[in-house]
Amino acid sequence: MKPFLFWRTDWLLGFDEIDQQHIHLAGLLNRLFNVLGSDSTGANRELHQLLIELVETTRRHFHDEEAFMQPSGYPQLREHHREHALLLAELQEFIREIEEGRRHFTLQTLIALKHWQIDHVLNSDMAFADFVRQSAATTKDRSAWVTVAYEWRPVEGVKHSPVGRDTDAAGLNMRQTNASQRK
Ligand SMILES: [Fe+2]
Ligand SMILES: [Fe+2]
Repeated sequence: MKPFLFWRTDWLLGFDEIDQQHIHLAGLLNRLFNVLGSDSTGANRELHQLLIELVETTRRHFHDEEAFMQPSGYPQLREHHREHALLLAELQEFIREIEEGRRHFTLQTLIALKHWQIDHVLNSDMAFADFVRQSAATTKDRSAWVTVAYEWRPVEGVKHSPVGRDTDAAGLNMRQTNASQRK
């Protein structure tokens, strides 16, 4: 049987770590779908735990993705960050409403989350991947960064810092690697 959200190969950006995180997020939506259809006694608790996991995984993903974009000079980074911040705030508010009994998690909500994920990846994340590809083709100076980008891994335990500042340890790590590669 086809899963609720099947991650197609033409939705891959070409950056392994980021793609794996998108697939992992899709997997969480599939688990939520399965729990929604279950009438077992622990389903409500499992649903709540999965929603908390979804928020935390989404937060980590947004942080990693922005740290990944930061050294590239991507001109849409602030808009991208705003889009991330908006969704995260909505997700957190949504969970609060569920915890306070003001709202129920329904299939319609899950479908909305699925569409948001697909739309964001295909439009906003893919726009960044296109920028990297174009930079690689036209800007010699960025090609070293592009090489590093394809091998990028998130740095564990790094706290999120506001976009545009030079204090992000993950970004710093990439810049250092990039500079050393240019020598
Ligand atoms: Fe993403
Ligand atoms: Fe994104």
